[in-house]
Amino acid sequence: MLIFDSGIGGLSVYNEIYNKIPNAHYIYMFDNEMFPYGDKSSDFLINRVNSVIEAVTKFYPIDLAVIACNTASTICLPSLRAKFSFPIIGVVPAVKPASLLTKNKCIGLLATKATVERTYITNLIQQFAAHCTVKLLGLSELALIAENKLQGIIVNMERLKELMQPWLGLQTIPDTIVLGCTHYPFIKTELQMLFPQANLIDSGYAIATRVYNLLNDKYKLNQIILSTSENIVLSTAYTQSVEKLIKKLSDYHLNKYHTIKV
Ligand code: DGL
Repeated sequence: MLIFDSGIGGLSVYNEIYNKIPNAHYIYMFDNEMFPYGDKSSDFLINRVNSVIEAVTKFYPIDLAVIACNTASTICLPSLRAKFSFPIIGVVPAVKPASLLTKNKCIGLLATKATVERTYITNLIQQFAAHCTVKLLGLSELALIAENKLQGIIVNMERLKELMQPWLGLQTIPDTIVLGCTHYPFIKTELQMLFPQANLIDSGYAIATRVYNLLNDKYKLNQIILSTSENIVLSTAYTQSVEKLIKKLSDYHLNKYHTIKV
């Protein structure tokens, strides 16, 4: 199973999937050469994500791919599904669950700049949360803050507070905040400190359930997914950050690293 993101964010989704299906064989791929995706154009992302997935399939057989990136999923899924024959599961912001949870009918959607501008998001809100006020906040810096945290750099709370100011100053503060970027669960504790009353929700668990059901229908999971191969990490560039990260990734049961040039 391939799990893909621009950076470490997809690990938040991988974690949930791994907890449900620990014996599958995983490839975690991240496109660090082009990180962050949140400030790239739609055309660029469609081409890039298709090329990255294609590059992986040249080396590894893939049964199922999870695009563990909201920024990519909200624009690339149709082209990916047209190109590849294996199932492709996307990750999109949890607007629907948020609309069911909110009490004050004020939802916050925190995501990358690219994600909040997508028609996909406008439609999602229209479809599931038309009865709520949905505040959108698109930020480029948050994903980087999460990347840094995973590498041991403590989150600067003053800076985070500045970034969240548009909501902290509101008369009605969202009581439900959608973490619409897979990087954000890594800084959930810090965000929760700024919004102590709010429910912070992400899509990870729902995606894991979806993957589980899909594989279970196909393979009867408990019988046959018993992989003994090592799980693999791939990235598009080998950098100092990657070198540091690799050491951490064994905590995630990802043991072998390769660079794939795209
Ligand atoms: N993790 C990605 C997402 O879910 C985006 C981070 C980025 O590359 O900007 O949107």
